[in-house]
Amino acid sequence: MTSIASPLQSARIEAEPLPHALGAVVTDVDLRTLDASQFSAIRAAWLENLVIVILGQQITDADLTAFSARFGVLDEVPIVSKGQAPRYNKHISVISNIVENGVPIGGLGDDEVLWHSDTSYRDFPPSASVLHALEIPAQGGNTGFSNMYLALETLPPALRDRIDTFSVKQDITYTAGGQLRDGFTPVIDVRECPGATHPLVRTHPDTRRNALYLGRRRNAYILGLEVADSETLLDTLWKHATQDFLAWHHQWQAGDVVVWDNRCVMHHRDPFDSRDRRIMHRAQARDAARPARDRNADSSPHPRGQRFLAARVVR
Ligand code: OGA
Ligand code: MN
Repeated sequence: MTSIASPLQSARIEAEPLPHALGAVVTDVDLRTLDASQFSAIRAAWLENLVIVILGQQITDADLTAFSARFGVLDEVPIVSKGQAPRYNKHISVISNIVENGVPIGGLGDDEVLWHSDTSYRDFPPSASVLHALEIPAQGGNTGFSNMYLALETLPPALRDRIDTFSVKQDITYTAGGQLRDGFTPVIDVRECPGATHPLVRTHPDTRRNALYLGRRRNAYILGLEVADSETLLDTLWKHATQDFLAWHHQWQAGDVVVWDNRCVMHHRDPFDSRDRRIMHRAQARDAARPARDRNADSSPHPRGQRFLAARVVR
């Protein structure tokens, strides 16, 4: 590809926003051969829309990790749950319900996967998660995504003020599918469970906007509160953050690559028929810095969710 062709190529990257609070669809690209300007157009569409679906990708694990690494520092994927086949590559997470010789080849089975953002129990949680669909069930198994800028922006102002400086502790013990991770023991006291602590309101390092950062509900604990008060406040925040208007559910086709921004998005998976096959491969990238609440953040709302709300009112 010549240097003259590059700007024309990137001009051809089309990201069509979905009629929801987040998400856009990108067509006519090949993730194996993106030049720098094409990648920067994809990244810009991702920061603008929070989640992008890139259709029709025939890619290997090496292509998936190479593409993911362009979003930041290529990260290790989660530890597998008890009894699951070990990772064959520390940068590839297999998400599947297939069992071979009595051993699940991947994680998360076929049940509902509760709302979460990925590996939020780490000190350096991921920015981008990149999920490639290899085999999908006839129905079900859709993945929901939810806009956490908009969740914060639509909180009652007094509640938003109250939580502004709070931190939340995240537990590593269980997967988002509810399985105990290999090498961990069940948690008794939420204050004692292993995992990182992060600001409940974090400033996105690229967009400079603040977003609600809940991570995962199970065993979460808001520092400095009595456990009962932490539970009550977390329940209130989760009820708000998991409302339908904040979300969109993607119906997969084999070949889709979906990139979501864990700094401002939570995701969820619907259950599907256990007799169907679902195989997805995922990689993730992280930032060099830990999540932080920046006092000099841009106080204006992120435009994506606001545009959606405005369009909804007009219709
Ligand atoms: C993940 C995840 C959901 C899905 O890969 O982290 O939550 O739809 N996946 O497979
Ligand atoms: Mn996940």
